[in-house]
Amino acid sequence: MDYQVLIARAIEAKQSAYVPYSHFRVGAALLTKSGKIYTGCNVENVSFSATNCAERTAVYKAVSEGERDFVAIVVNGDNNDYLPPCGICRQVLAEFCDMETFQVVLANNEKDYQVATLDKLLPGAFLTENLKSGDSHSPPGKER
Ligand code: THU
Repeated sequence: MDYQVLIARAIEAKQSAYVPYSHFRVGAALLTKSGKIYTGCNVENVSFSATNCAERTAVYKAVSEGERDFVAIVVNGDNNDYLPPCGICRQVLAEFCDMETFQVVLANNEKDYQVATLDKLLPGAFLTENLKSGDSHSPPGKER
């Protein structure tokens, strides 16, 4: 796939990052199966744990507008190397995206990027099919 447009949109989205604490800007651009692009940036908070990463901003924007089918996400950070999504963002992507086919594009610029799949980035992920109740799954000593 040609990621040039998606990468350019992620780099552009980085300009809106709200980063008074880390001064580390991140931009993301998420491509839907229908061909739309949702961008995101990181939005920090004085209560640090309330910070939202660029990837999650893009996913939540898309989902809040009715999109749930995604093809790829580009991530671009202020560092000089490929920026890997944090663990929480990997888990959020795993909620909506196919572990084997969804493309996570770690981009330094339009010509320099790496592509990974979620099963490589989040092996052994906790997925919806793991959320099943039943006695056979109860840990020893926890049965009621
Ligand atoms: N950040 C992201 O936006 N995405 C990531 O995957 C890694 C971290 C942000 C969060 C915070 O605003 C800053 O980078 C430093 O951790």
